[in-house]
Amino acid sequence: MKALLCRQFGPIEQLLLEDVPLPEPGPKQVRVDVKAASVNFPDALIVQGLYQIKPALPFSPGAEFAGVVSAVGEGVKHLKAGDRVIAFGGHGAFAEECVVDAMRVMPLPDDMDFETGASFVLTYCTSLHGLKDLGHLQPGETLLVLGAAGGVGIAAVEIGKAMGARVIAAASSDDKVALCKERGADEVINYDTENLKDRLKELGGEKGIDVVYDPVGGAYAETALRALAWRGRFLVIGFAAGEIPKIPLNLALLRERSIIGVYWGDSLRHNPQEQPANMAQLMAWFREGKVKPVISERVPLAEAAGAIGKMANRQVKGKVVVLPEA
Ligand SMILES: NC(=O)c1ccc[n+]([C@@H]2O[C@H](COP(=O)([O-])OP(=O)(O)OC[C@H]3O[C@@H](n4cnc5c(N)ncnc54)[C@H](OP(=O)(O)O)[C@@H]3O)[C@@H](O)[C@H]2O)c1
Repeated sequence: MKALLCRQFGPIEQLLLEDVPLPEPGPKQVRVDVKAASVNFPDALIVQGLYQIKPALPFSPGAEFAGVVSAVGEGVKHLKAGDRVIAFGGHGAFAEECVVDAMRVMPLPDDMDFETGASFVLTYCTSLHGLKDLGHLQPGETLLVLGAAGGVGIAAVEIGKAMGARVIAAASSDDKVALCKERGADEVINYDTENLKDRLKELGGEKGIDVVYDPVGGAYAETALRALAWRGRFLVIGFAAGEIPKIPLNLALLRERSIIGVYWGDSLRHNPQEQPANMAQLMAWFREGKVKPVISERVPLAEAAGAIGKMANRQVKGKVVVLPEA
C-alpha cells in the first residue's frame, strides 16, 4: 500500500510517498481502509520532532481519519470488517490503510460523510472541552478566539455561538475574518491590519472579555490576557506562532483571572467519562446545523506533505482533507 513516510525527524519536505507492506492489527487493534484523513497542526510538529509525542521511526503522520474497518485484531468485540468509523490515532493516517487501537475508534454516523468525519473529532472535541469543561463559558458572555479561521479556532467560533456567547473572532487576513463572520462570529478583528489592544478595549467595553481561546501564543497572548474581565478565563490551547509566551503573573492576580491549560488528548486518558456526553452534544449540534467543519481543500496522498507545509506556514483556512483514493 502507499503511505507518506517520515524516516527521520526533520523538515516537512523530506516526507516521501512510499510503498510499504499492509500492516496487520495486533490484539485490541483494527485496520481501517482510510477514505479521508485531515491535516492538523500537530502533524507539522510531530514530523519535525517538535511534538510532545515522538513515534518510533519510520512512521506516517496523520492523526485523525475516517474509513471502513478492513481487519480486526484479537479481542476486539465492538467492531467488525465493513463498519464505517472515525478514528483518532495520533499518527499513521496519511496512508491507504491504518492500524489503530480499537478504543480510539468510534462509529461514523450514517448522516456524516467520510470527509466531515475525518475533520470533526480533534478540533471540535478540543474546543468544546476547553470552552465547556474548563472555561465554563456561559450564555451572554463574550468569547475572544485567536487564530479563529484555523482548525480549532473555527470550531471554537461555532461552539461559542452554539453555547450562546457573543463571539469575537481574530485572525490575520481579511479573507480569514470573512470566513469567521460566515461561520457566525459577531465581531471580527484582523490583527495584521488593526491594533488588537485598541479593538479589544472597544469591543470588550468596560467589563472586558470573559473567555479567551488561544491556539496561537506568541505576541497576541499577553494583549488578550490584559483585556480579560474580572474572573475572566484564559484558555491555553497551543502555540502555532512558535513562541511560548512568558506571562507576568500579576495579570492573573489583578482581576482574579484564571489561566487554564487545555490538553484534550490527555484528558481522554484522565477523564474518559467526559467524552461521550461531549461527543453526543457535538453530534446534536451537527444535526441542527450549528457546527460543521470548514473543508477548504482536498488533496491526494501524494500532496499530503505539501498540505502539512501550508498549515505550518499559516496558509490554511479551516481544514485540508487528504483523500488516499484520489
Ligand atoms: N490543547 C489541545 O488539546 C490541542 C488540540 C488540537 C490542537 N492544538 C494546538 O492548537 C494549535 C492550532 O492547531 P490547528 O490544527 O487549529 O492549526 P491551524 O489550523 O494551523 O490554526 C492555527 C492558527 O494559528 C495562527 N498562527 C499565527 N501565527 C502562526 C504561525 N507562525 N504559523 C502557523 N500558524 C500561525 C494562524 O492564524 P492567523 O494566520 O489568523 O494568525 C492559524 O490559522 C496548534 O498549536 C496545535 O498544536 C491543541
